[in-house]
Amino acid sequence: MSNEAYRARILHVTSTNPLRYEYLVDGVLLVEDGKIKDIGPAQRFLQAGFHLAVCQHDPDYLIVPGFIDTHVHSPQLDIIGSYGGQLLDWLNKYTFPAEARYADVTYAATSAVAFLDSLLDAGTTTALVFATSHLQATDQLFEAADEKGMRLIAGKVLMDQNALPEILDTAVGGIADSETLINKWHGAGRLGYAITPRFAGSSSVQQLQLAGELHKKYPDTWVQTHLSENRDEIDWVAQIHPDTSDYLNAYEKYELVGERSVFAHCIHLTESERARLADAGGKVAFCPSSNMFLGSGLLDFKQLKRDEIDVSLATDVGAGTSLSMLRTMGDAYKVCQLRGYSLSAMEAFAMSTLGNAQCLHLDKYIGNFEVGKEADFLMLDPNATDLSSRRTGLSETIEDELFVMMTIGDERTVAATYVEGNLTRP
Ligand code: GUN
Ligand code: ZN
Repeated sequence: MSNEAYRARILHVTSTNPLRYEYLVDGVLLVEDGKIKDIGPAQRFLQAGFHLAVCQHDPDYLIVPGFIDTHVHSPQLDIIGSYGGQLLDWLNKYTFPAEARYADVTYAATSAVAFLDSLLDAGTTTALVFATSHLQATDQLFEAADEKGMRLIAGKVLMDQNALPEILDTAVGGIADSETLINKWHGAGRLGYAITPRFAGSSSVQQLQLAGELHKKYPDTWVQTHLSENRDEIDWVAQIHPDTSDYLNAYEKYELVGERSVFAHCIHLTESERARLADAGGKVAFCPSSNMFLGSGLLDFKQLKRDEIDVSLATDVGAGTSLSMLRTMGDAYKVCQLRGYSLSAMEAFAMSTLGNAQCLHLDKYIGNFEVGKEADFLMLDPNATDLSSRRTGLSETIEDELFVMMTIGDERTVAATYVEGNLTRP
């Protein structure tokens, strides 16, 4: 039985609606066998006879739950920061050729480890991940996550039309591969499977239909895809799927829209699509850096909240420009500013931790420091750079300090990442 104690400042969100958090200026986090055993003010531990000297003590550090990224593409580390073109050009010019390399299993295996290490460096301990259309490359990603003990949800990309032949599957073959991976990895350790039709543009009607049937057969799998990202994409999807009333309907028709479905982007949804998405309980992944980088548009976060749609926060690397959820929170703030809404630091932090866990139905395991949850946590260092040290020194509240971290922080802010109580990075 392993037993570790950490003494530092501690911050975690205890409720997202209404938004509530606990901030301990001098707190202790007790971890036993990879789970949260206890949390509270150091004074309370002292009074109970606990020997505080056994704690790893870092008074300046801020302990927070590991970040959760609800939409990211593992092979796209290779094309992050690729110049020019909006979505459809960018896919054809950079993304599809890069993903074709993952037919090479050795390349896929080393890249999977590099991807997960980069996530952990950024403080992301859980993610919902698009692999590539290759069975073996996806298998390697699961293998690497299992090795690291990470709670990860991923899926083999389903795409049987409108891309390079090297990365196309077939409607029937793609589903068979997905089922093989479900049987091997879904529910294995901390891993889960997401049925992953890339988007309606690259899946035939038959593939979407079979994907819906697969989800029905394995109802506790997740579904992930893209929706309403770019105006040209929306027009193109309408041509490819002429029997649909709008973009969302291309997924609805095949029962791919439900509480376990995560739709990346959702920037240009119509009022009807928003109402139907809310009714079905489908989740949105807000990808601010990607949406700015590809010029896709500015999500109206406040409108989606008014519509009572659950919005999570995601990087969408490699259209997104950073794996850091701190930077992504900062980008979300800027996008919201451009839509007339000032996203608070606590709101952004809540999304990146407990809120994203709730969107993924993982909040019984992760997202905050409730006793019994899995001990995925970070040590954030407000003094990581001279600038952050100077600016944080002038912060008077934890809200202000957190806002500074999400405005100028990044991987450097993450001094240590723990997965199930084990130090994984650096
Ligand atoms: N739509 C379909 N595929 C992709 C992708 O890889 N990235 C983004 N941003 N949008 C997509
Ligand atoms: Zn994406």
